[in-house]
Amino acid sequence: MSDLNTLVGNTQATLRRIADEFSPAVFASSLAAEDMVLADMILKAKLSIGIFTLETGRLHKETLGMVDRIRETYGYEVALYKPEPNAIDAYVKQNGLNAFYDSVDMRKECCRIRKVEPLNRALAGNKAWITGQRRSQSTTRAELGVQEDDPAHGMTKFNPLADWSEEDVWNYIRANNVPYNPLHDKGYPSIGCEPCTRAIQPGENVRAGRWWWENPESKECGLHVVDGKLVRIKAVAET
Ligand code: ADX
Ligand code: SF4
Repeated sequence: MSDLNTLVGNTQATLRRIADEFSPAVFASSLAAEDMVLADMILKAKLSIGIFTLETGRLHKETLGMVDRIRETYGYEVALYKPEPNAIDAYVKQNGLNAFYDSVDMRKECCRIRKVEPLNRALAGNKAWITGQRRSQSTTRAELGVQEDDPAHGMTKFNPLADWSEEDVWNYIRANNVPYNPLHDKGYPSIGCEPCTRAIQPGENVRAGRWWWENPESKECGLHVVDGKLVRIKAVAET
């Protein structure tokens, strides 16, 4: 296992290389712990990498509060990409506000409208994008590279924290006084939209609280595509 200083040095070097060689590049931040580590490094080094959040309209107030914490701490305004209001209106009118509980198709359609379409808008015109994914988050991320081709978006994708453990993330946050979503202290290691995320019990997989009502095999987020396929989140089945 690498020591934290080595990991931090490597990650800072990766971020600098992205800013130097892949401009314009953007960082997709869910405002969760991993993403606060990357935001801290990007903003302290004043790298020219834009930071955006997909503001689905269904995030916890604590998650949205992190936009204010970032402004207060770093003087940086995170760009918010919101779903198309007409698409939301049509979905809600036809299916109801919380139709994602009714079927996998309804859930995927909600994710498409609230996350995938805004992501495409946020990425347009960039050479690279950055995520906070880590290999140890789930078996589907076990092969994650720090640098990957993303043919679906026609650009390079970076996962600079691929090698980091959850403990590394928290050690960095504590050592550097990085602000973090208070939900992490209330049993939420992984945070998505409010109606689709629950707290986990001790011993449960860190992603067990995401889309918890679904058969693990159906869990597809839509943001991350591997080998041309949507990522399947199997970790819950393996706990
Ligand atoms: S998800 O695909 O299941 O939602 P997860 O919550 O683990 O993924 O987040 C993985 C990475 O996807 C984050 O580090 C971030 O780069 C990106 N991401 C997830 N949700 C958002 C969001 N709402 N806005 C921007 N980026 C996001
Ligand atoms: Fe909709 Fe839930 Fe997907 Fe958020 S996570 S976009 S509320 S289905």
